Amino acid sequence: MSEKVTISVIKADVGGLAGHSGIHPDLATVAQKSLGKAESDGLIIDFHVAWVGDDLQLILTHSHGEDNEQVHRLAWDTFQLAAARAKELKLCGVGQDFLSDKFTRSIRGLGPSLAEMDIVERENETFVVFMADKASPGAWNFPLYKTFADPFNTIGLVIKPKLQQGFRFEIHNVRKRRRIFLDCPQDIYRVLALIGSAGHYVIKSVWTKDGDIAAISSTELLNLERGQHVGKEDPVAIVRAQSQFPAMGEILEPFALPHLVEGWERGAFFGPLMPVAQRESHPSRNDGPPRVVALGFQLAHGKLIGPRDMFDDPGYDAARAECNQIANYLRRLGPFEPARLSMDSMKYTTLPHVIDPLEERFEDI
Ligand code: 13P
Ligand code: MG
Ligand code: MG
Repeated sequence: MSEKVTISVIKADVGGLAGHSGIHPDLATVAQKSLGKAESDGLIIDFHVAWVGDDLQLILTHSHGEDNEQVHRLAWDTFQLAAARAKELKLCGVGQDFLSDKFTRSIRGLGPSLAEMDIVERENETFVVFMADKASPGAWNFPLYKTFADPFNTIGLVIKPKLQQGFRFEIHNVRKRRRIFLDCPQDIYRVLALIGSAGHYVIKSVWTKDGDIAAISSTELLNLERGQHVGKEDPVAIVRAQSQFPAMGEILEPFALPHLVEGWERGAFFGPLMPVAQRESHPSRNDGPPRVVALGFQLAHGKLIGPRDMFDDPGYDAARAECNQIANYLRRLGPFEPARLSMDSMKYTTLPHVIDPLEERFEDI
């Protein structure tokens, strides 16, 4: 019998220890308790509380479908409880990701980021949750493209008949709130023409040509909503593996090349995305470098089996060393572009407060 399950990954920064480096263990304990109650009440099937850096991720399974009011309310209430504890502890940037103090029907637009997918659980339902800190939504463009469209990364595209039809990409223009669907391999040049600008075009989801969802990412842009930088959105993504999808190893392989993402120190710098075990997901050097953690699961009748901490692997030591080299180089550039974000993106930082008052001192030449 086919079993419909929804996987919801909802995350927020409710307060950091020390600075924006990590979370306090009490926040995870509060979340465990809140979600444990929802599990025994039957609202959710299972859950796992995770974190990367100062971000708290709620990984939930349930049977209510995407965008469900009760599930979103549960996530919202859980973040509020965690934020209340963060406030007692006077953690850094308490409630940083909340755009509202009140829940309305959906958590979308209220600050936390989310990735949700409705699936029919396969005989072997393997998937991975990616979680980044000191990054922004476009961070998944590079790895998702490599995984689902690049035969030099994913040998399955070359040798497995099921994968040869390629994948369909849903790409969002996050600044203009428009979207486009493009098919790979036919459209790979068009896909690349867009997603190379990861601050504008973000891969929202990937599908098989038969209509099975393969990947979904969070695309919330907090700073755009607010018009100013308080914290970065630090995105999450869910990617299904094996069978009609790329193998787990093919999904993890792109992270062996530390690509540059927006979000390092004050959200003002590009930094190399370092794949790490969860225990090493505490960015401190210049509040970074940006981190990514990958938690792998199997699903058994909606129950989460795992996680396996996928980057807890010496196979990624070379990538981490390369990240440190790139970090050394970029840091030496100080406040100069392109290590620092472009003027266009710096609009959302505190830079305009410095530049705007100079306006009256400029003279025509
Ligand atoms: P977060 O988005 O992870 O809270 O980081 C904020 C920041 O500016 C760190 O330097
Ligand atoms: Mg923070
Ligand atoms: Mg963060």
